[in-house]
Amino acid sequence: MKKIAVLTSGGDAPGMNAAVRAVVRKAMYHDIEVYGVYQGYQGLVTNNIHKMARGTVGDKIQRGGTFLQSARCPEFKDPEVRQKGIDNLKQLGIEGLVVVGGDGSYRGAQRLNEEGIKTIGIPGTIDNDINGTDFTIGFDTALNTIIEAIDKIRDTASSHERTFIVEVMGRDAGDLALWSGLAGGAETVLVPEHKKEIKEIADKIQQGIERGKKHSIIVVAEGVMSGHECGEQLKKYINVDTRISVLGHMQRGGSPSGLDRVLASRLGGYAVELLMNDETGLAVGIQNNKLSKTSFDDIFSATHTLDEQMYALSNELSI
Ligand code: F6P
Repeated sequence: MKKIAVLTSGGDAPGMNAAVRAVVRKAMYHDIEVYGVYQGYQGLVTNNIHKMARGTVGDKIQRGGTFLQSARCPEFKDPEVRQKGIDNLKQLGIEGLVVVGGDGSYRGAQRLNEEGIKTIGIPGTIDNDINGTDFTIGFDTALNTIIEAIDKIRDTASSHERTFIVEVMGRDAGDLALWSGLAGGAETVLVPEHKKEIKEIADKIQQGIERGKKHSIIVVAEGVMSGHECGEQLKKYINVDTRISVLGHMQRGGSPSGLDRVLASRLGGYAVELLMNDETGLAVGIQNNKLSKTSFDDIFSATHTLDEQMYALSNELSI
């Protein structure tokens, strides 16, 4: 393979730049020309495709966001729209494509692979909700952002004897809520994968107050309900001074953690290796700290699950 391209798609995640850098540098090391597709699948269709130089990815490993930018492109589901993108790649003689993104982005990648562009996916999303990998790029950084926020919130919660509800990202997956709740010592974690009765939570807070507890922290994944709704529901059962913190998109930004930079570099390098070996239709990942590859078909045949042992532990530790 002589020419490949790389794009980032879906919600951005810290470490995407490090992944793109690894793809570009690894390919160049092996005398493969690399093109950057700006603005995700939309850029593929509008021909926003530019040749990368070694220096294009200089000074990028430490940056959050994605310098290639990302865009939601629902039109890409349309085969005619996809064909435009394929034609643009073919016109430049590009045979392989690396897509850094979440599972929505993988759907596009799978289609492109079936339609003649050799494609590899790299898991990039803060949600950590992609099958075929233990961790996605961006999860560790977002987790640390949330932990930092929880630690700060705890200070003020304790000073004022308040209950805080911290709303974190995770439309369908509770990983960010569970991991941050566990690491931040939250009293309650609400995840989309499990139902918890608000009355139970209220009872637990009440018991804590009776034991002399100065504050309570509830971490709620946005996919369960909003922080404000959670506060309203809680009010029905208990009269405590409550405040809501919605962390929002700050969770998606920031300089990637060391773990995310290393993960992104390993996965980026491996993606190029697979293309060089003519292996396609796969997403790379990390499983038990070993690089792994999984076909898009296998990735889509299972649903992401929460670590149940960890969920049980978080309940046990937050008594
Ligand atoms: O990247 C995934 C995610 O962070 C979700 O957790 C969140 O619901 C969503 O993106 C929000 O994305 P946007 O505001 O960019 O549409």
